[in-house]
Amino acid sequence: MNGSANDDRSSQARLVRIPSGIPGLDEMIEGGFPFPSVVLLSGTAGTGKTTFALKFLCKGAEGGEQGLYITTLSEPTQWMLRFASQFDFMKKDFFGDEIVYMDLGAHLREMDPPELLDSIEEKIAEVLPQRIVIDPVTVVGSMLKGDYRTFLFDMANRLKNWNATTLVTGEVNPGELYPPEISYAVDGIVLLMLSEEGGSRRKYLEVLKMRGTNHITGKQSIDITRSDGIVVLKARF
Ligand SMILES: Nc1ncnc2c1ncn2[C@@H]1O[C@H](COP(=O)(O)OP(=O)(O)OP(=O)(O)O)[C@@H](O)[C@H]1O
Ligand SMILES: [Mg+2]
Repeated sequence: MNGSANDDRSSQARLVRIPSGIPGLDEMIEGGFPFPSVVLLSGTAGTGKTTFALKFLCKGAEGGEQGLYITTLSEPTQWMLRFASQFDFMKKDFFGDEIVYMDLGAHLREMDPPELLDSIEEKIAEVLPQRIVIDPVTVVGSMLKGDYRTFLFDMANRLKNWNATTLVTGEVNPGELYPPEISYAVDGIVLLMLSEEGGSRRKYLEVLKMRGTNHITGKQSIDITRSDGIVVLKARF
């Protein structure tokens, strides 16, 4: 793993961090995401949440870390890979080995919150991932039998018991920043957004919250490229 070691001589134990895989982002967050932690990646449709999440997992896989990608969309692996494979960083042979794919979608309507959490934890115990993605967690709210808020709260707490950094993606409507039900239970919030500036619509990233981290605030321009996925452009810091 690429996290920096704790410094025993310092009175403040330094947080271990892992690289996000997003060029330009680690410089904004003191070197990477805290490990372990739970980070919400929020954005409206098509802002790049899945692209970000896949790059995060591929970055880990390149460094020998195990990844777990949990989708809630009932999409077969091949469907997701068909789009994702347009990116140069996506290595198909990661899937099944370094990155394990789990489709929760088929079970969402049948399960109550504790059952759903148990099935997620069973998979985590089997795969022992250092990087986990749940994409998109907001779908669960409209399908789950039982209380969504309780589910989110319990999920975030149970994820904290595992030695992993988890990215949960949240779909929001235009004008909203993040799904409020989960925001207080996570350690970090990264926003992806579309915004009008100078008459044209552009994509931006903003780090809204990152516990234990002196992060850059304010929205930064991003690009989505075939070679690297999401890239933070000319940072204003
Ligand atoms: N090769 C590419 N070059 C540039 N931009 C791309 C490329 N491929 C995809 N994109 C951009 O990425 C967007 C899709 O990104 P992604 O699927 O990661 O978003 P998302 O937030 O997960 O969307 P959804 O809400 O549908 O889940 C496309 O709408 C497009 O704007
Ligand atoms: Mg997506």
